[in-house]
Amino acid sequence: MCGIIAQSGADDAVGTLINGLERLEYRGYDSAGIAVQNGSGIAVHKRAGDVSEIREEIQTEAASGEVGIGHTRWSTHGPPTDANAHPHTSDTGNIAVVHNGVIENHAELREFLSANGHEFTSDTDTEVIPHLIEHFRQTESETMAAFRRAIDELEGSYAIAALIRDEERVYAARAGSPLVLGLDSGQYYLASDIPAFVEHTRDVAFLEDGDVVVLESDGAQIFDRNGVPVERDVERVDWNPEEVGKGHFDHYMLKEIHNQPSSIAKTIRGRVDPADGAVAFDDLDTEVLDGVREIHVVACGTSYHAALFGARLLSDAGVRTQVFRASEYAKAAGPVSDETLVVTVTQSGETADTLSALRTAAGRGATTVTVTNVVGSTAAREADQSVFIRAGPEIGVAATKTFTSQVVTLILLSQKIAMELPDATPREDLPELLAALERIPTHLDQVIEESRAADLATWLPEHEAYFFIGRGMSRPVALEGALKFKEITYEHAEGFASGQLKHGPLALVTSDTPVFGLFTGEDVDKTVTNAKEAQTRGADIIGIGPADGPGADESDAYLRVPDTHPVCQNLLANVQLQLVSYHTANQLDRPIDKPRNLAKSVTVQ
Ligand code: M6R
Repeated sequence: MCGIIAQSGADDAVGTLINGLERLEYRGYDSAGIAVQNGSGIAVHKRAGDVSEIREEIQTEAASGEVGIGHTRWSTHGPPTDANAHPHTSDTGNIAVVHNGVIENHAELREFLSANGHEFTSDTDTEVIPHLIEHFRQTESETMAAFRRAIDELEGSYAIAALIRDEERVYAARAGSPLVLGLDSGQYYLASDIPAFVEHTRDVAFLEDGDVVVLESDGAQIFDRNGVPVERDVERVDWNPEEVGKGHFDHYMLKEIHNQPSSIAKTIRGRVDPADGAVAFDDLDTEVLDGVREIHVVACGTSYHAALFGARLLSDAGVRTQVFRASEYAKAAGPVSDETLVVTVTQSGETADTLSALRTAAGRGATTVTVTNVVGSTAAREADQSVFIRAGPEIGVAATKTFTSQVVTLILLSQKIAMELPDATPREDLPELLAALERIPTHLDQVIEESRAADLATWLPEHEAYFFIGRGMSRPVALEGALKFKEITYEHAEGFASGQLKHGPLALVTSDTPVFGLFTGEDVDKTVTNAKEAQTRGADIIGIGPADGPGADESDAYLRVPDTHPVCQNLLANVQLQLVSYHTANQLDRPIDKPRNLAKSVTVQ
């Protein structure tokens, strides 16, 4: 986790670094800091708290400099204190470093450096890096050689950017953590993700593991792991700067919920033809499906819930399918062979557990496809093929529009796979499903506009616990509803298969535990019965389903979705639950876009 940024060029770097860090706060917000070359040395400003703290400090201290680095932290080694905030410096203060990743051999390196007279001032793994560079500068005449020798000592994952006193350049390196180069005329940027600098340039190059970069005012030189100069392809991303701002919304999450009619339209565009039931994926070479006899769908968190949805559709099509939490994959996968297709689902493409599962699968001979939002992400580069969900940048830590775009992509992908595999069959009602998918943006507009979630949120908070139940394809929606609710409200919420409630969890149900019933999709009558079993024990039932659908009259409160194809009803119900979570968290005055202890991109296992 953590976000890093660097700039080198003719313009003052301070504003760019601070704005860029604010765009990277989804990666962590425990502490923040910047360092700039200010003409008489390296000036470091850092402290615990989010980026606004540094913005305030700088306003009073008037920092400036044309070359600089910055960091926003999600703590791994050491609590979120001023001392543990990045940048970290060497004993002399001549070297400052920001780092995203984990240095696994930091304890040995710290011991070695301490024995050589270096004094440490933080608990972090990162602090070994500036001391190492300083150590090797004693014997190497060139800074580049000292920098390389330092990174050669590091085990683990890192994206690093370093400033050296009196050198108007940034030294950077990447191994296992993302680092993107942004190229503008006369300005060069490095960052963990594109939103950090997209207001300045949309021309980007994704660096490879092992790359070392030197950023100067007149260019960026890239060297591969052997020190050989290399070129990396420069791509123009189609994100516009407004997409990474909050617009007129109070929170990114609310903006991203409202963005779903348009993000889903982009996900679908060019991929469906309801008239003849055709599904097309320009980005998928179907050769990848040759000889496939079994599919594993692997993901974490919200993406796992999307994976459950996709896996169910594959099973319905007659494809032998299993779904795994990525962190369990290495141990739980069972036999994997060249007849196994492993589909990893990851919004960021950088989740360490998912990348590890991807590598395990590839190592065992499987073919791999990743379903992701981020072009150039590690998962996209490492998988045999990538399918992009096209949701656009998502900044709120709680995934919303990327979930709905993942689900839509997986609906389409499952049917494409069913068309290609010899023993599989696409859904009989595929033309109706595709037609309903095309209507989703309109239906979403209606849900968002007419939702009563905000009213509901006025009486919801402060209950003892909240349960979410669903059956079949509404079960992943129940699980996702509960995850979203706990993530941003900090209230205790759990999702269950509705048929499971009576096998244990019903013991928890009281008049203080509202139950959200997903009355959408299939076997709704059974879910209504399960909800009534909870209601009999005193719980209020909040139903989600079509107007006049089964369960509407029995519910104590009811959130409506348009009466469309059952698969799509689930997607619309999910958006009602996103709004319930958002408004409840808002009611409780929670930091909705930056929930405590969480980060959007989880790059540690
Ligand atoms: O980037 P990924 O989709 O791989 O991330 C997986 C999870 O960490 C992520 O979905 C997490 O659960 C979100 N915070 C959910 O809102």
